[in-house]
Amino acid sequence: MRAVLVANPKGGAGKTTLATNLSGHFANQGKVTTLCDLDRQQSALRWMAFRDPSLPAVTGYYGGNQISLSLPREADWVVVDAPAGLQGYKLTDYIRAVDRVVVPLVPSVFDMAATEDFLNSIRSEIRGQRAKVAIVAMRVDPRTRAAAMLEEFLKHFDLPIVAYLRNTQNYVNAAAAGATVFDPPRARNKKDVEQWRTLLEWLEN
Ligand SMILES: Nc1ncnc2c1ncn2[C@@H]1O[C@H](COP(=O)(O)OP(=O)(O)OP(=O)(O)O)[C@@H](O)[C@H]1O
Ligand SMILES: [Mg+2]
Repeated sequence: MRAVLVANPKGGAGKTTLATNLSGHFANQGKVTTLCDLDRQQSALRWMAFRDPSLPAVTGYYGGNQISLSLPREADWVVVDAPAGLQGYKLTDYIRAVDRVVVPLVPSVFDMAATEDFLNSIRSEIRGQRAKVAIVAMRVDPRTRAAAMLEEFLKHFDLPIVAYLRNTQNYVNAAAAGATVFDPPRARNKKDVEQWRTLLEWLEN
């Protein structure tokens, strides 16, 4: 079993979008995939309930009441969708329980300011295991000023950006149908799937 935690204390950063799409990717690869929803709002589980049974299966459960994160060993991949505001001893415990941490980050001054303390705690937590954490730039074109601003901000933390995902209704439409950009029909999401390649390589290697 391998586990990935998707976390950012800022609401609306794109955690559930990343977590559900990652689950969809693993499921489409034929992996036994479990989505652990830590958020009381249970958006990831709601997404799962919309999912067409003919699509590759993702199973899931609400794990938000756990003091310490215990994950199902029988899955190939466990994707953990964190709630906004995750910090402190729980964050420390959750980071230890997983193989990788992915932080979606929107390049806005508000999002960056709200994420600064979190990135500092993560950095002190993963001392010596720097390869464990990466940033996904959300809703951004890498050629823009916003992207440059994000890169400048991240220099302080020495954490890599492993993907840039564009702003597109494809994620919104897929979510409404319990689907992901990795599910068929794939033709219309080709451009988006391509943007995930570097993130998936980082996770799977
Ligand atoms: N790349 C994108 N392009 C367009 N819309 C996006 C993209 N990523 C996320 N969104 C939309 O932004 C909103 C917030 O995303 P999401 O729910 O994934 O964030 P979150 O971090 O899980 O929020 P919360 O902190 O409330 O759990 C959603 O409506 C989602 O569909
Ligand atoms: Mg969410």
